[in-house]
Amino acid sequence: MLIITVVAFAHHKGGTGKTTSCLNIAGFLQKDGKKVLVVDCDPQANATTGLGVDPGALTLSIYDVFMSVFEGFPDVTINDVLISTASGIDLVPATLDLVGVEPYLYNIEDRAWVLGDALAGVKDTYDFILIDTPPSMGQFVINGLVAADRTVVTLDPGSFALKGVEALSTVFGDIQEMLGENIIADLAILTRWKSSGERETGTGGLALFLKRIFSPGPSAEEEKERERLRAFEREVRKTFRQVFTVSYSPAVYEAQQRGSPISHCAPESDAGREYRAIATAIRKLD
Ligand SMILES: Nc1ncnc2c1ncn2[C@@H]1O[C@H](COP(=O)(O)OP(=O)(O)OP(=O)(O)O)[C@@H](O)[C@H]1O
Ligand SMILES: [Mg+2]
Repeated sequence: MLIITVVAFAHHKGGTGKTTSCLNIAGFLQKDGKKVLVVDCDPQANATTGLGVDPGALTLSIYDVFMSVFEGFPDVTINDVLISTASGIDLVPATLDLVGVEPYLYNIEDRAWVLGDALAGVKDTYDFILIDTPPSMGQFVINGLVAADRTVVTLDPGSFALKGVEALSTVFGDIQEMLGENIIADLAILTRWKSSGERETGTGGLALFLKRIFSPGPSAEEEKERERLRAFEREVRKTFRQVFTVSYSPAVYEAQQRGSPISHCAPESDAGREYRAIATAIRKLD
């Protein structure tokens, strides 16, 4: 049985819900009493701000960890940069400086293993290490994938997302071939999902009955969109062993603005319940 400790969140397309999923799953794992570290491996530093930390106020970040493998830079370990956040999740923060690391990495042969090697020093301290990666195919994503035992792919209902799955499979295959690293990416999250209407979470019985009677039926346009989403979900289920959906929910954005995962400020929202179920599934992965 594979013991899952390190999970990367990846998709080269921007805005598919990598950071949101990473932070909210981290939040529910933390609430379950697990010791959780979030590693922000994205120069945008959204996981850092999402946990209430101001990147501008940091003196050390993941930038320093990456740079410490190069001559002339101070020796900085993960332990030196990690900070505890208000939600009880530990964080390896990022800043925009991280963009400066990539050109250096191309000069070293072992560039894909820098993050994994650095995390080896704290692997025993945590039950889960969750890595947020940027929307690219670059070295930070490769470092995240190589460091992880398991990769979660996030997809949004955008029409090009499925093409993205094919491109990702190619990248995973290339990494396996070139680096000899096994990438297990059999779990997908469909984010910002506008329910196809069958799932009426939170309402049932009489409320649902009345809603059905008094609401006008879907327009032809809505029905077309629902069919597109259903077809998309069917396609995704062919590629991934486990597929979860997370509803579009304003609580997600509000939580981000507060610098707190949804688990800690709106656990009973639709998205909260859905992320709790995903966190439970991640605990049960083998
Ligand atoms: N379930 C949801 N309901 C409502 N808004 C959501 C939901 N999931 C994500 N969002 C919003 O969508 C936007 C993109 O999400 P997020 O930042 O997690 O994507 P990302 O893949 O990390 O983006 P990037 O590729 O830029 O790193 C954010 O503004 C976030 O608040
Ligand atoms: Mg992000």
